[in-house]
Amino acid sequence: MIGYDEERQLFHLKTEKFSYLMQVSEDGSLIHRYFGKRVEHYGLGHNPPKLDRSFSPGPFAKERTFSLDTLSLEYSSNGLGDFRTSAIELRSEAGVNLALKYQDHRQYRGKPRLPGLPSSYGNQEEVESLEIDLRDDCQDVTVTLFYYLFERANMLVRSVRVRAGARAVKLQKCLSLMLDLPARDFKIHSLTGRYAYEKERTLTKLQQGSYRISSVRGASGHAQTPFLALAAPDAGEDRGEVYSSHLVYSGNFQAFAEVGPLKTLRLGLGINDTGFAWHLAPHEEFYSPEAWISYTDAGFADMSQTSHRFIKEHLVRGTFQQELRPILLNNWEATYFDFSEEKLLALADKAREVGIELFVLDDGWFGERNSDTCSLGDWQVNSKKLPGGLKGLADELHQRGLKFGLWVEPEMISEDSDLYRQHPDWAVRAEGYAHTYSREQLVLDLSKAEVCDYLIDTLTELFKSARIDYVKWDMNRNITNIPAQFSNHEREEFHHRYMLGLYRILESLYQTFPHILFESCSGGGGRYDLGMLHYMPQTWTSDDTDAIARLSIQEGTSLIYPLITMGAHVSAVPNHQVGRITPLRTRGHVGMLGNLGYELDLTALGPKDLEEIAQQIKTYKEIRSTVQFGTFHRLETRSNNEHAYLILDEQQAVLTYIKTLAQPEAPLSQVRLKGLDPHALYTCEALGSSYYGDELMNIGLTLPYVQEDFYSLQYIFTKKGEKR
Ligand code: GLA
Repeated sequence: MIGYDEERQLFHLKTEKFSYLMQVSEDGSLIHRYFGKRVEHYGLGHNPPKLDRSFSPGPFAKERTFSLDTLSLEYSSNGLGDFRTSAIELRSEAGVNLALKYQDHRQYRGKPRLPGLPSSYGNQEEVESLEIDLRDDCQDVTVTLFYYLFERANMLVRSVRVRAGARAVKLQKCLSLMLDLPARDFKIHSLTGRYAYEKERTLTKLQQGSYRISSVRGASGHAQTPFLALAAPDAGEDRGEVYSSHLVYSGNFQAFAEVGPLKTLRLGLGINDTGFAWHLAPHEEFYSPEAWISYTDAGFADMSQTSHRFIKEHLVRGTFQQELRPILLNNWEATYFDFSEEKLLALADKAREVGIELFVLDDGWFGERNSDTCSLGDWQVNSKKLPGGLKGLADELHQRGLKFGLWVEPEMISEDSDLYRQHPDWAVRAEGYAHTYSREQLVLDLSKAEVCDYLIDTLTELFKSARIDYVKWDMNRNITNIPAQFSNHEREEFHHRYMLGLYRILESLYQTFPHILFESCSGGGGRYDLGMLHYMPQTWTSDDTDAIARLSIQEGTSLIYPLITMGAHVSAVPNHQVGRITPLRTRGHVGMLGNLGYELDLTALGPKDLEEIAQQIKTYKEIRSTVQFGTFHRLETRSNNEHAYLILDEQQAVLTYIKTLAQPEAPLSQVRLKGLDPHALYTCEALGSSYYGDELMNIGLTLPYVQEDFYSLQYIFTKKGEKR
């Protein structure tokens, strides 16, 4: 609910769990009053005592206690009193200052789409909107703050529009979100990492100064995720206050938490202003990407589940939002570039035998691509490898009852490609500088409309050329060598224009091919973000396919992203990335914590392994709807050596437990389940027993004592009904 008290110029945004309060101050600035556990009322007694703070300047000569520097603000710039990190910076003939004063507001139900950018959606029942116009008459600029309140989903979505007046303006920074809170004894939680080691949970103490994560790679990147959470020191999975913030964007971003000298906390999230600017001609406007914030006092499980539900119900769209995702076989780690149609069909035959539903042909099917040195851009089939073309292969696969998936990396161009020979100017390049290579490839300049149009046409034709059910969209390098000037735009606009170009292509393909399931990838999780999920409902989580390494990667990913978005494949041993040998059972159990797939040479396996895989697939089909649409819990274990997860819905609960290393004289492992119906009876075939929900949740289960490295178990509990 969004309430407005006209007399006090006070806005009160309320969801089931939180309140968010703003008020217009005596100088017209928009002040942030409160964000936290829901309150019904906000009286007059909350305003902190006014103090004359040394070195905190203000607009009133005789009222020394008023300074923007000491107030909690909604959206602020530097130069007129606030010395903290700003949310917006611009420059025009009128100078660089920006004094944003309340002008007007509007309220309505429903939510419009954000032009050209990925955005959440909801109907009139689900979302209520508030737009607040802030004005600087001197700059002749209007900044509109958008607040979209999803009351039942407990999510507040924010974004910003800057509109120039009669004067041209150069926007140098425009964050999507600024949030001023009192600095409590919070810890900052973020997801960091590197290539093949994504989404490591990282905890930092909040103290005076700034914690900042950012990317200038032209992608969100493997090393950081556009997300920050602030949590009370005692916050755990099931208790404690957690504030979370997310950015719906896939390019250069920044996220920071800054504590000022007066222990005020400022959270900022948006496009990275390093190397960014946007030129607004008179009356032009700029939209920031969308940012989401939420609050809970029930810990990280609730934070994650809120985020999971919101992504599933308000970000992911189309056919696959509600549909079970197919179990796939990907030929990459099975064959790499070395395959023929015969070899692929032999793999497909085995895939069919074990119950796989989708066959994905990865890199190497086009141009002269027998290694990663050439042919990106030449999306014509290599008929030496596939004499029947893509259509021939797709038909063969469909005849076998398999769906067909195809790998592409459309944003890239190899120097050794026909496309580059025809259009060398389409590769991103800084005039006067040599190319910078990464995997021997260059990046197509998606800031150019003609390149985007070409890609839309080429890919539309390609995806129509055979029965294609799935596309893996890869992006295997980051962007360098930004041109100084391009298509009349400044270099600082390049990265955002690239993203707008990419989003335009993705939207067009999404509209034309509603039946294609898209999976995004950037060397694994190098662009695993909310922006991409709007167009592509799943992501290849990491190039590290080792089951044990995957535990922390998938667990970190689960902090924000639901399991249905995570590609998780069983691969061969010794593992190709880390050389570890783990049991097939464990690899299967870890794969079943996401969208299960296989990525190994099934033709090289013996009957015992194939039988085990067939069994895994049978089990996954029984639990798939729970895994993909149910509720996920990270369970408490005795040590970091153990991991336990529970996924449940109305019908069943799936417990997965993994112990990484055997230890001498190890204590017994126990887990307590969560989220069950306390009075319902749950039967577990593997245990040969039934338990009431309250027993499993309060007493818990003692697990078998097994002395084995990389040990795992999976128990499926079927809900049988209530005790009479
Ligand atoms: C990236 C992907 C892999 C695979 C290769 C193909 O690294 O993450 O899964 O598709 O490209 O070149």
